[in-house]
Amino acid sequence: MAQTAQLTIDGRSYQLPLLTGSEEERALDITGLRQQTGLITLDSGYGNTGSCRSAITFIDGEKGILRYRGYPIEELAAHSSFLEVAYLLIYGELPSEQQLTAFKNNVTCHTMIHEDLKHIYQAFPPDAHPMAPLSAVVSALSTFYQDALDPLNPEHVELAICRLLGKLPTIAAYAYKKSIGQPFIYPDDRLEYAANFLQMMFSVPPEPYQVDPELSHTLDQLFLVHADHEQNCSASTVRMVGSSRANLFASISAGISALWGPLHGGANQGVLEMLQRIADDGGNVEKYVALAKDKSSGFRLMGFGHRVYKNFDPRARMLKQECDIVLGKLGIEDPLLDIARRLEETALHDEYFIERKLYPNVDFYSGTIYRAMGFPLNMFPVLFAIGRLPGWIAQWKEMIEHHERIARPRQLYVGPQQRHYLPLDQRGS
Ligand code: CMC
Repeated sequence: MAQTAQLTIDGRSYQLPLLTGSEEERALDITGLRQQTGLITLDSGYGNTGSCRSAITFIDGEKGILRYRGYPIEELAAHSSFLEVAYLLIYGELPSEQQLTAFKNNVTCHTMIHEDLKHIYQAFPPDAHPMAPLSAVVSALSTFYQDALDPLNPEHVELAICRLLGKLPTIAAYAYKKSIGQPFIYPDDRLEYAANFLQMMFSVPPEPYQVDPELSHTLDQLFLVHADHEQNCSASTVRMVGSSRANLFASISAGISALWGPLHGGANQGVLEMLQRIADDGGNVEKYVALAKDKSSGFRLMGFGHRVYKNFDPRARMLKQECDIVLGKLGIEDPLLDIARRLEETALHDEYFIERKLYPNVDFYSGTIYRAMGFPLNMFPVLFAIGRLPGWIAQWKEMIEHHERIARPRQLYVGPQQRHYLPLDQRGS
């Protein structure tokens, strides 16, 4: 028998269905609430609002669990690759060998961008943050590839998916090359996904460039651990924009803009800026922990805290280890890593952080690895975007396939009641 919860308002009782997810998570279905009661719910920041039913990613924030389509992130990072995980997220199952080869070929044959698209980069100042051209060029794909815009046509969607996955690293690397005045480097389709991106970023025409296989493997893993995180700000943005039946390119472009913010994907850049600030100020970690606790300072420990994780973010745990490996391999002793470790240690033993269950998140260590690999600070959120793309696509595709209604929240109006227009000469000073 279906379970219900009873809600009593002004002495009248209403039954609301109780739903249970596949991991025994429970939800109160309020779909009929307004129709039955005339009331809406108020949930600023959506902390208690399930916006959809989704079969893509499971997170247990209390236990620090993250699974893509049921597979633990740790197992995928140890055995899989970014493109295989992209397939898993988008299509729901791990591919057969044949399916994986076909998928890789389909993505790889779309790595070039239209030559005319390159002109867009010229319109940006050299010091433009690369998230702006990234979002703009992805949006512009919709004008160059008009044969793949119908969200309800599965062939169009397939084409748009492969084009986006193929082109995003190229679009990202061109944004970097433009910012440093170097020529754009064409993709080399003989290389694996992350390796190809590295050569577009760091090679120059007059010199031979050899991709370091260990570094490209690390980058592939970094992309993989970022690949999805259920209904976060950017994924919800992608779903929301797509719910109006906007095309996939437009929806992903909006997701990139949402990711850019310092409380979301921009936090990895924020962490390194914070660590540098602490280093420049003499390395006094305690001072900055105190500052983060002082609400009037407006300062937060970047890379700390999470809406869902009230325990270690499993991605942070993995990246902390990876950080030691990469820096060890490159023979880099980064003083900022030492500050990061001391900051983590101090915060984890501080009552303020313990009480609020604030732990390092995925952004805390990723930036140190990116820096060691030679990426400039403002490319960090771009790397996050490349990694997150399969998740955004999977979320958008699921939303379309579920025929979700247009997303349209309500509000509690707290503005002035009706009043009447006064001509300018009657308004006082
Ligand atoms: N430093 C100091 N205090 C913090 C921090 C922090 N990093 N994060 C949360 N708090 C405090 C906050 O002031 C509040 O205290 P109180 O209860 O006394 O008012 C309490 O902890 C709860 O914080 P909240 O802002 O209500 O939590 P939220 O779920 O709305 O925000 C967050 C989550 C990730 C935006 C926030 O923890 C934060 O701003 N962290 C720093 C930015 C960051 O690292 N973002 C990356 C998130 S993970 C990757 C991603 O999503 O892109």
